[in-house]
Amino acid sequence: MILAPSILAADLSRLGEQIQAVERGGAGWIHVDVMDGHFVPNISMGPVVVEACRRVTKLPIDAHLMIENAEKYLDAFVDAGATSVSVHVEALTHLQRAVAHLRERGVSPGVVLNPSTPTGALSEILPEVDYVLVMSVNPGFSYQKLLAPTLDKLRRLKREIAERGLRVRLQVDGGVNPANIKSVVEAGAEIVVVGAAAFAAGDPEQAVRGLIGAAK
Ligand code: DX5
Ligand code: ZN
Repeated sequence: MILAPSILAADLSRLGEQIQAVERGGAGWIHVDVMDGHFVPNISMGPVVVEACRRVTKLPIDAHLMIENAEKYLDAFVDAGATSVSVHVEALTHLQRAVAHLRERGVSPGVVLNPSTPTGALSEILPEVDYVLVMSVNPGFSYQKLLAPTLDKLRRLKREIAERGLRVRLQVDGGVNPANIKSVVEAGAEIVVVGAAAFAAGDPEQAVRGLIGAAK
């Protein structure tokens, strides 16, 4: 299991320190939530923040794009130093082109499903991606509650990936906390994004260590 703290919930006035704290706690990826105020009802951060993260850590940086016209901005996130970039199936008409472009640029491509988007929307693209992000909240904000049907969705996707003999990892994002992290991992999530549960309590290093312990 890879724990991926989302800096959306971090104290951005101390971004470098907060990233180093979660890294000491055992975080495996740094998750950057990119929001444009159109695809989701919130505005967050862009390539300059990915670039800033890149300067303070060697951990993989995972950019989760919750934006319209994502294809226009892929290169900006690659150039800023993202290791992986995920795009929403709901936001892109030419999803395959975006995924292939990320792969050509040497970045790990992922696709994201909103809670109401059926897993069937992935049937054609699945062999081309490295990971699928199953949203466990409607995207836009940290501090929301995990939607229970996510667990079954993860299990169904895990089964499909195995049946088709693919090597695609599952990621979950939204509302994960020490009480439910074990259930999402058991359902098939290998990469677990945590916002509030990593940063809200004030000691991100300890919080991350606790979450990793609770997942076992
Ligand atoms: C939601 C974002 C998440 C969010 C996670 O739109 O994609 O990454 O910040 O935060 P928590 O863990 O607090 O739900
Ligand atoms: Zn996210």
